[in-house]
Amino acid sequence: MSEKRKISIIGSTGSIGTQALEVIEKLRDKFEIIALAGGNNTELLKSQAEKFRPKYIYSLKPISVDGVKTLSGLDEIAENTENDIILVACSGKIGLKPTLKAIENGIDIALANKETLVMAGDIVMKKAKELGVNIIPVDSEHCAIHQCIKDISQVDKLIITASGGPFLNKSLEDIKNATVEETLKHPRWNMGRKITVDSATLMNKGLEIIEAHHLFGFDYDDIEVVVHPQSIVHSAIEYVDGSVIAQLGIPSMHIPIQYAITYPERFEGIKSKSFSFADIARLDFEKPDFDKFPAVKLAYKAGKMGGTATACLNAANEEAVFAFLNGKIKLYQIYEITKHIFDEHELIQKPSIEEIFATDEITRAKTKDYIYSFVTV
Ligand SMILES: NC(=O)c1ccc[n+]([C@@H]2O[C@H](COP(=O)([O-])OP(=O)(O)OC[C@H]3O[C@@H](n4cnc5c(N)ncnc54)[C@H](OP(=O)(O)O)[C@@H]3O)[C@@H](O)[C@H]2O)c1
Repeated sequence: MSEKRKISIIGSTGSIGTQALEVIEKLRDKFEIIALAGGNNTELLKSQAEKFRPKYIYSLKPISVDGVKTLSGLDEIAENTENDIILVACSGKIGLKPTLKAIENGIDIALANKETLVMAGDIVMKKAKELGVNIIPVDSEHCAIHQCIKDISQVDKLIITASGGPFLNKSLEDIKNATVEETLKHPRWNMGRKITVDSATLMNKGLEIIEAHHLFGFDYDDIEVVVHPQSIVHSAIEYVDGSVIAQLGIPSMHIPIQYAITYPERFEGIKSKSFSFADIARLDFEKPDFDKFPAVKLAYKAGKMGGTATACLNAANEEAVFAFLNGKIKLYQIYEITKHIFDEHELIQKPSIEEIFATDEITRAKTKDYIYSFVTV
């Protein structure tokens, strides 16, 4: 990068956002920060703004930092064509609107927020293609595939790895009775609460299958999931001639974040240690157990149905995850509730963006009503 890349981060106070700032700190001469945006953690956002001196900040709560302009919404970041790239690292549905707006303004996207493509992948990818906007995946699996693909027309299938989460070797009974604390103890990755719960139910892998379908244009039957507990192989692709290319590395989100925000260049950056096959010693792989983790199958079904099915899946799952985190339901009920709501969904096959947002809202309301029909508030 001959000139400094101008970047904004939506969700700078989260797990991905803070790691992105660690990457940028190591590469201070390569980046100029235009805006930082967070939700409720104004204390952290304030200290980030004081340290990194962006031009603008945005927070859900009132905030002020000397010499930094406070914006009134995420749209103002997404419309600002000073940005070369925006890292969308907020969690949940709030990522979709600013991502679309940034694409409309010709700004490249480093995309961590998987819900954006799960909700509206057809619309987002079509718009990005039309306007020549790059969408570089941050999710480690998609980042791995992005790095492996040379000529997409010669790729036969995508192989997405899954760590298996904290309950990989537990019984269905253990999973049904898992506490919030046990669920939030991920063996490999330190992430936000929502994605950590999704990793435990494997819904995260389901959402990633849908994300991969949109990013790389593969049929769902050509996207395979394999459990790989060490999380060293981040994903792979198989070419038509049988050659398999995988991307490997220590499990650290710094690497895919840095890849996405510096693409197509590479720098030493924050890389913490050299890779050693001998230190890793073994790599295990196994088929996912769909009886213990049925969320993956449900995601395949939603993906194949297309239209508003995946927005419905996403919204029902997210509300059920919140109910679990708030101690209202058990872990396995997340799947049962999501499936119940999903089965009742009236599909719109080619939805507008408004219909997608409406599906999201209606599904959330239905899911909450359903949960509170058998749970005390
Ligand atoms: N963490 C990972 O390793 C990982 C890996 C792959 C993909 N992802 C994806 O990346 C996304 C972020 O994950 P995460 O683990 O970093 O989540 P997280 O730790 O929960 O962080 C979410 C971020 O979004 C911000 N936010 C929430 N509501 C907002 C709003 N209305 N306006 C502006 N900002 C808002 C939060 O701000 P406050 O904290 O200030 O409220 C926080 O900065 C998710 O879609 C996840 O699936 C994460």
